[in-house]
Order: sequence, then structure tokens, then C-alpha cells
Amino acid sequence: MFARIAGVGSFLPGSPVSNDELARRGVDTTDEWIVTRTGIRTRYLAESSCTSSDLAFEASRRALEAAGTSAAEIDLIIVATSTPDYIFPSTACLLQGKLGNVGAMAFDIQAVCSGFVYAMSVAEKFIRSGSHKKALVVGAEVFSRILDWQDRTTCVLFGDGAGAVVLEASETPGILATASHADGSQHNILSVAGQVCGGKVTGDPFLRMDGQAVFKFAVRVLSEVANECCGAAGVASSEIDWLIPHQANIRIIESTAKKLGLSMDKVVVTVDQHGNTSAASVPLALDAAIRDGRIQRGQKLLLEGVGGGFTWGAALLQF
Ligand code: UT7
Repeated sequence: MFARIAGVGSFLPGSPVSNDELARRGVDTTDEWIVTRTGIRTRYLAESSCTSSDLAFEASRRALEAAGTSAAEIDLIIVATSTPDYIFPSTACLLQGKLGNVGAMAFDIQAVCSGFVYAMSVAEKFIRSGSHKKALVVGAEVFSRILDWQDRTTCVLFGDGAGAVVLEASETPGILATASHADGSQHNILSVAGQVCGGKVTGDPFLRMDGQAVFKFAVRVLSEVANECCGAAGVASSEIDWLIPHQANIRIIESTAKKLGLSMDKVVVTVDQHGNTSAASVPLALDAAIRDGRIQRGQKLLLEGVGGGFTWGAALLQF
């Protein structure tokens, strides 16, 4: 029994916000700096009333439609997010309520930008065990809420959005291998270190990052975990039809592709349009390449995430 992708959907709030627009809004930056260092040209920023569960709901509706599945048939909901609507209930339970599903197991995963790949790996194990038949796996973020707009080294990099996948039990091959890792000794290179205490946020509520340390870490672990995943499935990296990596920086994506011996025409890139949407970035990229016809049924896809924790992971699957 495999866990196979039955349908994919995604959602981006509002209209694209260009690098020049950020500069006009007062960020001390230029389009040239952002494009050269990151590849980012635009990102989407949600209105203040819009939450991660709102974005997750729109993405999930589209994924359910693509899968030809009703919300009532879903028996497992996992939402990967670092920007939940509430401390509790989980964003997965809030999404469940919006979808009108009653009874599915629903919980969040917090693995920052690796969250979606972690969630796929967890859902796959539930399905393979036979305990669950249809899972809704979502990455949803309103990262704009945790950005310090005075810190140009981070605020230009991130955006908001959501992507969702319906995974179902199938005898046709689906997920072939997954690998997920973390190294908590590196927790301080990318964090939001604030806490809630006595009804107030104490400490720093904004995202802080040692960009160069994150860059080096990401380049190393993304190729390692890709090779681990391919090795576990007995698939050579040359057999991968599409690499769908976390969308943080085009230079990280290019280095990973080079290390894996993959040409860039086998890599799905959306960082230019979406910026870094953390847990949403991989399913957003996956959905874009399915809907524009690049990804076809039967092809081998390698999904990869890396982010705060530090966490990283990959999922190799036959679409
Ligand atoms: O999801 C995982 C999370 N994040 C990532 O994967 C990000 C990983 N890291 C990176 O992508 C890169 O390290 C950055 C894009 C964040 C930074 O690129 P960099 O080439 O490492 O630049 P830098 O931090 O060394 O900064 C170079 C210069 C500095 O000026 P000085 O000190 O050389 O005068 C910065 O102050 O660029 C300046 N700078 C900016 N200039 C204009 C930093 N941010 C900006 C900005 N606009 N937005």
C-alpha cells in the first residue's frame, strides 16, 4: 500500500508586491540587491484580517476539487505552519471547522520551512499503516506577521501563502521514500524567540536570521538528504523528473541542483514570484508546475525542505 497524491491546490493572497514597492514603502533596499542575492522579484502579503487557516482553507478547497474528493472523506488533517491563527486550537482544527469535516484526526506540525515535507512524511506513515485512508496535508503561512519591517536583511525575503495535497491509500506507487532530520544545536541561526507570558509577548516577536550560516547549512543538508532519500528508494538522482525544493533563495536552489547533477530545467522555481513562504513554499511550487502542465502523472518528484530548528527533509514520490 502506498500513499499517493490524489490532488494538489494552492492559494496566494491579494496581488504581487514588487521589490520596488517595498522600497517605496520605506524598506532601505533595491530591486537590484534583492534579485541578485536571492532571485526574488515579488511576494504576496495577506491583509491583517487574513489568517493561516483562511489561506489553508482556499488551498485545501482547490486540492479537494483536484482530487475529486469531498471534505467529509478526509480522515487525517495535518497543517504545517509556524504562524498559527491561535496558540490553540491548532490551525488544523480551525481548517477542519471551515471545511465542515467532523471526526478526522487533526493537528499541526511545527518544523518551519521543512514543515510540509515533515507533514507528508507523517501522513504517509499513517496511510501505510492502514489506520487512515485520505489525508489532507497543508503548508500555510502568514510570515509577514513575524517580520521586522525595519530589518532589511530579512523582511524582503518572505511572503504569505498556502499549498495543500490530498494523499490517499493506493496500490499504485506514490511516496517511495522520505527522510527527515533536525539539529537543535543550530536553533539560534533562524528563530522567532518571543514567548507568551501573562497575556503578553515577551522577548523578541520577530524573525531573526544569520543569513550566511543558514545559507551554508541549507546547501549542505539539501543535497545530503536528497541522496539519502534516493538511496532508500533505489532511485538514481538522474531518474528524478522534477526537483521541487524549498523556495528561499535561487542561489541555494542552483547549488543543490548542481550537487545532484540536475540541470535547472528539471527544477521548479517559484521563489522569484512568491518569495520564501516557509512551510507553504513546496506545495505552492508543486501546484504551479502541475497546473501549468510541466509535472505529469507517473513522473518522479523530489520534494525538499530546510528551515528553522534546524530542520530538513525530503520526500521522493511517483506522481
Ligand atoms: O527558509 C530558510 C530561511 N532562509 C534562507 O534560506 C536564507 C539564507 N540566506 C540567504 O539567502 C542570504 O544569506 C541572504 C539573502 C539573506 C543575504 O545574502 P548575502 O549575500 O549573505 O548578504 P550579506 O548578509 O552578506 O549582506 C551583504 C550586504 C550587507 O552590506 P555591507 O555590510 O556589506 O555593507 C548588508 O547590509 O548587503 C546588505 N543588505 C542589503 N542591501 C540592500 C542586506 N540586506 C539588504 C537589502 N537590501 N534587503
